[in-house]
Amino acid sequence: MMMRRYFGVVAATALLLVGSVSNSDVWAQVKFPGDGNVNLDVPYVPTPQPVVNRMLQMGQATANDIHYDLGSGDGRIVVTAARDFKVKKGVGIDIDPVRIREANANAKAAGVTDRVTFMQTDLFKFDFTEANVLTLYLLPDVNLMLRPIILDKMKPGTRVVSHAFTMGDWRPDSQEVVEGEALYYWMVPAKVAGGWDWRIENTPYHVDLSQQFQVITGTLRGPNGESNLRNVVLKGEDLRFEVSVPRGGVPATVSFVGKVTGNMLTGTMDMGGGQKAQINATKSP
Ligand SMILES: C[S@@+](CC[C@H](N)C(=O)[O-])C[C@H]1O[C@@H](n2cnc3c(N)ncnc32)[C@H](O)[C@@H]1O
Repeated sequence: MMMRRYFGVVAATALLLVGSVSNSDVWAQVKFPGDGNVNLDVPYVPTPQPVVNRMLQMGQATANDIHYDLGSGDGRIVVTAARDFKVKKGVGIDIDPVRIREANANAKAAGVTDRVTFMQTDLFKFDFTEANVLTLYLLPDVNLMLRPIILDKMKPGTRVVSHAFTMGDWRPDSQEVVEGEALYYWMVPAKVAGGWDWRIENTPYHVDLSQQFQVITGTLRGPNGESNLRNVVLKGEDLRFEVSVPRGGVPATVSFVGKVTGNMLTGTMDMGGGQKAQINATKSP
């Protein structure tokens, strides 16, 4: 508990420092002494086990997943993911050799050494983008430095859970407090911004999407003019929206459910009255 309070004070001080200088590069230079004669970007404070369990539940870790913990400490999150959530592969990254020794001993004791690996390296220098479940207990600016990698290089649908700290203006999809600890959950959204075109029985349709992380707004242009999209939800690659179109002088709801894969948008338009159309849309160049 003392360590956790210390961590809170460290984070608050760091925020004040960064805020007052208005330069996040300054924060990258703030270092903490490690136990293994190394400098740390984040001091070592372990996550309590009930919080570890909840982080992995929020990340929906399963046997199909590859899990990474960045700054893995004594390996408790990676070991729990392999032992209790049966992930097929777990990787912990920590710069401190003392933590790596502890993590390897814990993996051995838990009988999960066939599926987990601990790498003694700097998390900023290691490619972690194969993960589809990513856990973090770092610091606000470290999260922010990782954010472009998470958003631009990780697969859409990757689940990210952070203990204690947010990702700036990328608002979480959900958050909760467990044993007094704040937990934040995000799903990496597909990149959907732009214009999308398709035809239904030779009639052209065009959707324009604007994107702020997972928050999408847009319009549909069809034979009856242009309407704003409603109830747009983007979860990883899965996109759905509704739109009101005038039909016979009365507004009717058209709904779309589909998937964005790179520059392809596939799915079904439900025009109501049992009328459905398969959509294969391409992004405008
Ligand atoms: C707050 S602890 C979290 C430990 C573990 N993830 C947990 O939740 O129990 C942060 C960890 O990050 C490690 N760390 C700090 N800077 C690092 C860096 N640049 N690269 C890799 N690990 C780092 C520290 O050694 C420490 O073990």
